[in-house]
Amino acid sequence: MSDPILVIRDLHASVDGKPILRGVDLDIPKGEVHAIMGPNGSGKSTLASVLMGHPSYEVTEGTIKFKGQEVIGMAPDERARLGMFLAFQYPTEIPGVPLSAFLRSAVNSVREEDISPREFIQQLRTDLELVGLDQSFGRRNLNEGFSGGEKKRAEILQLALLKPELAILDETDSGLDIDGVRIVAEAVNRLKSPEIGFCIITHYTRILNFTSPDVVHILLGGRVVKSGGRELADHLEEVGYDAVKKEFGYTSDEAEVEEAPQS
Ligand SMILES: Nc1ncnc2c1ncn2[C@@H]1O[C@H](COP(=O)(O)OP(=O)(O)O)[C@@H](O)[C@H]1O
Ligand SMILES: [Mg+2]
Repeated sequence: MSDPILVIRDLHASVDGKPILRGVDLDIPKGEVHAIMGPNGSGKSTLASVLMGHPSYEVTEGTIKFKGQEVIGMAPDERARLGMFLAFQYPTEIPGVPLSAFLRSAVNSVREEDISPREFIQQLRTDLELVGLDQSFGRRNLNEGFSGGEKKRAEILQLALLKPELAILDETDSGLDIDGVRIVAEAVNRLKSPEIGFCIITHYTRILNFTSPDVVHILLGGRVVKSGGRELADHLEEVGYDAVKKEFGYTSDEAEVEEAPQS
């Protein structure tokens, strides 16, 4: 097997001086789908933001190597040009910017040479279909008046057009109805290739019913406490997060990142 495209070691990160990530270790090889599951407040979105270099989060310890290069200290756009992509849990609206114009500048920002208008339009047409959005969406303003499901589809559309080597989806499935979850999952299945690694961050197991993860990681208290196969997600579904918290020494109502468990 090839070396993992993403290698995270002992990653600690804080927001406003408050430690959130407390020693994350994670490897994601190309060609694999990894799921990161955890209860609310366990640090999932923080991990995604830290991976993309969000300025509100301070890395206090550890390393994030992408394609062998340390990315801590790199600006978000530099990470994107290297091949990292993040779909946000809460996509923002940009009034006055048509989706197609936004996507074209996003595509050009990660390429050496600008894509030709013709090639872009063809790609856009194919990928709109892939994510189940009507062709008219290209002319609509980015996320303005989009339903929750349409916003998430627009994120996947961006992913399809950018062709990153690592795609991080932060709860792209939450807020979607069952058809929306299936469309996102099917798009992931179609985009899956030996050239891309997926990191699907999710609270629920339902997206995993449509796209089978190779590895499931449980994030608790800002650490990956357990990794396994698909059966780990099924186990979670069966016993719930409270049981897993107890197993790792957290009281069930404790805010996940407030206190380290007693050992
Ligand atoms: N920008 C921020 N400012 C203050 N606290 C934050 C910020 N981002 C995350 N946190 C805190 O970090 C913890 C983990 O949050 P988050 O990473 O969003 O968890 P998850 O995505 O697993 O639900 C929570 O206690 C949250 O309140
Ligand atoms: Mg989150």
